Amino acid sequence: QLNKPNAEALLAWYDRHHRTLPWRVIPKDRSVGVVNDPYHVWMSEIMLQQTTVGAVKSYFEKFLTMWPTLSDLAAASEEDVLKAWAGLGYYSRARNLKKCADHVQLHHNGRFPDNAKALKELPGIGDYTSAAIASIAFDEEVPVVDGNIERIVSRLYHIEEALPKAKKPIKEKVAELTPSERPGDFAQGMMDLGASLCSPKKPACSLCPFSGTCEAEGIGDQERFPIKAPK
Ligand code: ADE
Repeated sequence: QLNKPNAEALLAWYDRHHRTLPWRVIPKDRSVGVVNDPYHVWMSEIMLQQTTVGAVKSYFEKFLTMWPTLSDLAAASEEDVLKAWAGLGYYSRARNLKKCADHVQLHHNGRFPDNAKALKELPGIGDYTSAAIASIAFDEEVPVVDGNIERIVSRLYHIEEALPKAKKPIKEKVAELTPSERPGDFAQGMMDLGASLCSPKKPACSLCPFSGTCEAEGIGDQERFPIKAPK
C-alpha cells in the first residue's frame, strides 16, 4: 500500500522547477505577497485554450503592450482586437475576449469577480477557465483540471475508467489533492509537471515529486493512463 500523493511535495518541486512565463508571478515573488493579476491570468488562459505556451507568449506580450489594463481593452475596437489576434486562430476567442472585457468594465466596475462561480457567468469563460482564473489569480481552493492534469491524476490514482466518463472521478481526486495553502501555485505546478516529467510517453518518474506515491508507477503501467474511450 503506497502513501497518499502529497501536495506539499508538488509545491516544493514547483518552487525549484517552475517555468517562467510572462503572465505568471513566480514563487519567489509570491512568497513576499505579490499576486497574479486577474487580467493577465484571464488573457493567458483564453489564449492558451487552443494554442501552445510557446506560440502564446509573444501574443500575450503584444496584447499587454497595446492594452495594459482591462479598461484599455474595453475601449479598443473589436476590429483592432481581431487584427492583433491574427495568427492565433479560433477567432471566436478574440470576439469573446472583447465581449468579456466590455462586460466586466460595464457590470463589474472593471474588476474580475474573485470566485469560479461568478467568473463562469462571463462571456467566453467555461468550467476550466473559471476554475483556473479563480485558483491562480484569487487562490480560491477549486479543482483545476486540464488535459495534462487528467493524465497526472489518472496515473496517481490508477483510474481505470475511460475518458470522458473518468472526468468526474478525476475532478474529485483533484479536489481532494488541492491544498488550502497556495492552490493557484499547486494548479500551475501540476500544469508544469504535465508539460515536463509526466509526459504521455516515457514519463520521467524517477524525478517526479509524486514518485513512490503514484499507483501507475507502482504497477509499472504509466503509459496506459489516461484510458480513452474509442471514438
Ligand atoms: N496552460 C493553460 N494555462 C496555463 C498556465 N497558467 N500555465 C501554464 N500552462 C498553461
